[in-house]
Amino acid sequence: MKVLVIASGGDTPGMNRVIFNLYKKFKDNLFACKRGFSGLIDGEIYPASVFEPKKYKNAAGVCIKSARCPRFITDEGFKKGLKNAKKFDAVVILGGNGSAKGAKRLAENGVKTIFAPATIDNDIEGSEYSLGFHTAVKACCDAVYNVMPSMNAFDRACVFQVMGRRCDKIAKNVANAVGADALVASEEELNFQKIAKILNKNFKQETSSIIILRENILPVEKFISNLKTMTKGVEIKPFIVGHLQRGTKPSKVDIKKANQISKSILKAIKSNQKFAFTYFEEGCCKIK
Ligand code: F6P
Repeated sequence: MKVLVIASGGDTPGMNRVIFNLYKKFKDNLFACKRGFSGLIDGEIYPASVFEPKKYKNAAGVCIKSARCPRFITDEGFKKGLKNAKKFDAVVILGGNGSAKGAKRLAENGVKTIFAPATIDNDIEGSEYSLGFHTAVKACCDAVYNVMPSMNAFDRACVFQVMGRRCDKIAKNVANAVGADALVASEEELNFQKIAKILNKNFKQETSSIIILRENILPVEKFISNLKTMTKGVEIKPFIVGHLQRGTKPSKVDIKKANQISKSILKAIKSNQKFAFTYFEEGCCKIK
């Protein structure tokens, strides 16, 4: 049995562990697309061993490399990818919502396809959890814990911009965990007057302030310059957590989730389902 694994979209901590687990099972019969669906279209397909999955099993990132691939949405790109996918008995796709759509389309066109939820944003329709979310939240919290002592020394405020594309889950979880003074996880929460009041009060009390801002709402510099017009004497610093969230070594939770996903993937490969969607519910990884 020849199995192909593809990582698509943003890499996420834990992807490497899934690839290693599949490699342990299929050895020379596991192949990997280099750079997601782009690799599938261009025939950049190699034995997984080439990417040294054992070496990277506990590391963040993704050893087989990922890509965002608008070409796969076009009929021409899809047809080329489909031709290569058909050379395998099963194709495993690790990624987010866009990747799930690509996976489904392959299955509808005769390829046995297994999708596994893997994006730090945790925004996959039909799955309570997605691989890497715990690590991403932890990385943000660690950034706050490591930056704030220095902010405290000057009674400064710090705006931490966190990833999450259009999804508020990372921002909300981080704010809750660190006890943020203000949270802007959506456009509706952009209330400069309210935030400025908190900053002014903290400054008067000789203390610092933590503000968590989700990306893609307002550029952090603009956010700070707006706040500055309403605060007196408060120094406000930006800190973009950004790719630290994806580059951080997977947490124990995500390693456990990666192992659970791997088991579900193996089950799905054995089953006679054409399309299997692995998803999390009540802490378990299940197959639909
Ligand atoms: O989808 C995962 C994610 O990390 C988002 O949170 C973020 O908006 C995006 O990817 C960033 O992508 P890139 O690394 O391609 O800039």
